Amino acid sequence: MEQAHDIAKSLYNLSGTLRELPSERDQNFHLIGTDGHENILKIAAASEKRETLEMQNSAMRHLTGVNANLQSPVVRKSINGLDIEITTSNDGSTHFVRLVSYLPGTVFAKVNPHSSELLVDYGRFVGSISKGLVGFDHSAAHREFYWDIQQASSVIRKYKDLISDEEKKTLVDHFLGLFETYVLPRQDDLALSVIHGDANDYNVIVNHPHNDESRTFGILDFGDMVYSYTINELAVAIAYAILDKPDPIDVAQKIVSGYHEISPLTETELDILFPLACTRLAMSVAIAAWQQQLEPDNEYLSISQKPAWKALALLREIHPRFASYCFRAAVGLEPCADSSAVVKWIKRNSRNFGSPIGTALDSKNSIIIDVSVGSVDVVSPHHLADHQAFGDLVTEKLKDAGVNIGIGRYNEARLIYTGDQYLAHEDESRTVHLAIDLFVESGTPILSVHDGIVHSFRDNALPFDNGPTIVIERKTTPEGPSFYILYSHMTRDSLDGLYAGKPVKKGEQIGKVGEYPDNGGWPPHLHFQLIVDMMDEEGDLYGVAPVSKRDVWLSICPDPNLILRIPNSLFPNPNMTRDEILSLRSEHIGRPLGVSYKKPLTIVRGFMQYLYDENGRRYLDIRNNVPHVGHSNPRIVKALNQQAAVLNTNTRYLHEKLVRYAKRLTAKLPNNLSVCFFVNSGSEANELALRLAKTHTKRKDIIAIDGAYHGNTSELVNISSYKHDGPGGEGAPLHVHVVAMPDTYRGEHRGPDAGKKYAEDVLRATQSSEGIAAFIFEPLMGCGGQIIFPEGYLKEAFKHVRKAGGVCIADEVQVGFGRMGNKFWGFETQGVVPDIVTMGKPIGNGHPIGAVATTQEIANSFATGMEFFSTTGGNTVSCAVGIAVLDEIENEHLQQNAEKVGAYLLNRLKELMKTHAIIGDVRGRGLFIGVELVRNRETLEPAKEETKYIVERLRDLGLLISLDGPLHNVLKIKPPLVFTEENADRFIEALDLVLHEDPAVTSPWS
Ligand SMILES: Cc1ncc(COP(=O)(O)O)c(C=O)c1O
Repeated sequence: MEQAHDIAKSLYNLSGTLRELPSERDQNFHLIGTDGHENILKIAAASEKRETLEMQNSAMRHLTGVNANLQSPVVRKSINGLDIEITTSNDGSTHFVRLVSYLPGTVFAKVNPHSSELLVDYGRFVGSISKGLVGFDHSAAHREFYWDIQQASSVIRKYKDLISDEEKKTLVDHFLGLFETYVLPRQDDLALSVIHGDANDYNVIVNHPHNDESRTFGILDFGDMVYSYTINELAVAIAYAILDKPDPIDVAQKIVSGYHEISPLTETELDILFPLACTRLAMSVAIAAWQQQLEPDNEYLSISQKPAWKALALLREIHPRFASYCFRAAVGLEPCADSSAVVKWIKRNSRNFGSPIGTALDSKNSIIIDVSVGSVDVVSPHHLADHQAFGDLVTEKLKDAGVNIGIGRYNEARLIYTGDQYLAHEDESRTVHLAIDLFVESGTPILSVHDGIVHSFRDNALPFDNGPTIVIERKTTPEGPSFYILYSHMTRDSLDGLYAGKPVKKGEQIGKVGEYPDNGGWPPHLHFQLIVDMMDEEGDLYGVAPVSKRDVWLSICPDPNLILRIPNSLFPNPNMTRDEILSLRSEHIGRPLGVSYKKPLTIVRGFMQYLYDENGRRYLDIRNNVPHVGHSNPRIVKALNQQAAVLNTNTRYLHEKLVRYAKRLTAKLPNNLSVCFFVNSGSEANELALRLAKTHTKRKDIIAIDGAYHGNTSELVNISSYKHDGPGGEGAPLHVHVVAMPDTYRGEHRGPDAGKKYAEDVLRATQSSEGIAAFIFEPLMGCGGQIIFPEGYLKEAFKHVRKAGGVCIADEVQVGFGRMGNKFWGFETQGVVPDIVTMGKPIGNGHPIGAVATTQEIANSFATGMEFFSTTGGNTVSCAVGIAVLDEIENEHLQQNAEKVGAYLLNRLKELMKTHAIIGDVRGRGLFIGVELVRNRETLEPAKEETKYIVERLRDLGLLISLDGPLHNVLKIKPPLVFTEENADRFIEALDLVLHEDPAVTSPWS
């Protein structure tokens, strides 16, 4: 270090602080000069040749200014005017010395997370290096260099035996095999150029990594420059960018797409990119084994080894052709190159195929069995996991239609694939069906649809697997590609006497439709899959694909209806795409209705605390308090269906359901609140409550709390400052008195007498009014930011209001019905009894119900002679649903669950406060919790952008939560009451992960 100081001073006349940087071969120092300028002092290894350094310098110059997105260090001259200086070290050896500018930023490896946009941009940056170096050459680049992937065979062979673990050695051998099989034979087709050769994740720096508009990249050390395959630049970048990623191909695809935009890739390059990237990692672990032997204490050497081994194990499972198909898809090519030729051939010969069950399929003998995610025939996500129920559904459908063949669709996303074998990787399941199913009787003979040979066969005995399967191969033309038909779910004896290569004739019986459980555990059916590339699999291939690779799999497995020729008229219209729905919404739905999330979700199914999108992805619902006892809770659905099938009419006829329901509901309330009015929404309930209050008191003025929301009618907007003080609002009218929000976190009063102090504002409002009709409040405020009132607030406020002759209205639309845990109603947590209580949202679990409960006295005042009637309020179905919701809360002990799980979640969130400074406050009762996010716990500066980021990221991770509060910085937690501790753990784990990400930590927004 001392010597480095001396060198900086004597050769560059620089002094300041020096910090040694990790490096494989050289010694590099970050020098912050006394004048604040930052540079890197580079002292080359004694063995380094001057020529190599000259090359690096000229490459740096060459790349400067090539692209705004690409920064390269600038070479500084010494006091002697030289780019390269020489120094002699204490041991007498001479070293070349250079000074280059310091590039500020974060190393790519430390950027968290690597978003899709970042990865695409990273690809563009690597593409810019490739493009920038086109036309650059230097004699020093033409060297044999052990990091050059071209040298993989000799380098890996030389070092792999230093890897002591046999399993790991086999892994390295596998990738050496890939290199020699896939790359070497095609090397003459590869473009060559000088490459930087080391765009690894610690050698690339990023500025503004999370801002898609201003992100830039810089490349550091140029020590690995070599004349090699141009594509190796990209291969190296991919090799390191995929480390620690659950889906390496997904990451690589994004980088490839960005790279291709700047530096177009050839089909050959796309074909061998995967083996090259894997080979680079295999070289890295082999070289590390050697280096570690030489320098057991060098920390830098081991930096990437653990993740590299983990990645290699994952990559081992991916077929190189599959990877190349994914890369082709990323640049807009047909993923499976042979697919179009096969499809064309089949189309041309379509009349020559037979039927696999001996009958042509048409509307006289067949119907579609819809088992898509949102199918109305499928009653729950688990319905079809029971083969009997699945079988019953098919039988019933066939019987109803008077046909004997059920058709299961190709390219249909389904929820029926539940076994572990359907996990594509730790974050994604396979859901998209790649075949056509023919539901027919077990024992039905299966006939080959064409002449061919048995390619392979297998008995897939895992539960919910494919059972006995046979693959028949068919060549298109002597020179053209083959294609394959996979026949699955057969009887076990279908495999008897088979051998690979056995010829089969069109129409020849190759087996029979199997029965449960031998057929893999399904109702009897034939799974008929057309395959263009078996990718070295035998006897079976994935029959279901993950949505993220849908386009690739649909290309490998084209639509088998090319062969079956089921008439189009049999298929229902395809579901609308997200864009179609969005476009129709903008045309036909009122504009002020917003859509959640930057990437809106299409939700087609709900079940208890989960929602499912059209592709079968499951989301944990942490935000929706309307499906109080669970989305599509079967008992509520049953009550609704049963009553709807018998009677649904208005309240002018006598029916016991109405009075039973009113009795049940009022039994939950304090004794004096014994009279009900039924309407259809929370807004209607509040509107009616205001009328009751005004009629009873014969006054007009209303006191409401700042930040509150009570509904969407004109008068409710008048009293809801959340609306009238927000965008498009016109402020409160004169008869509305808005009092301070009793917020003990950031409000004016915070001590033990905060409740009393805030209530004084209510007192002031009564004093400034001509006559108060009502004080309306949410007992815990939702839109206001999950505000919990200080003790005594409502008691004091009630005192003031009643003294002034007004009545007190508790709006329980958000918080009632057991959500509080230890109390059934929100107002009970403050020990008060209101004069009017309004209800909505959870009361009907999503069925539109609103209710107002009040005293006999107030109800009597309302009997002025003018009738009150709500056509569908309190209708028979609503009453049946309302009663079922109350039953469900009681029978399933959901109030107790809210108390238990709520307390657990609150504690876990409070624990998170210890590690995440952004969490300013955690507050809540039962399953009504708020997490307020701040940039500074002293100033309470709201972390608005961070909160938005967190909500969007949680959505990406499969968790739905919303944000609210006047400063838009409160995470709002109010899940269905069936939420479990396991759900809470999942949420905490995801939140913890996201809170560690840069945009939630470093406030790049400020
Ligand atoms: C506290 C409160 N009251 C009333 C309403 C209005 O209910 P609805 O949307 O059912 O009319 C809402 C809706 O968000 C609410 O949060």
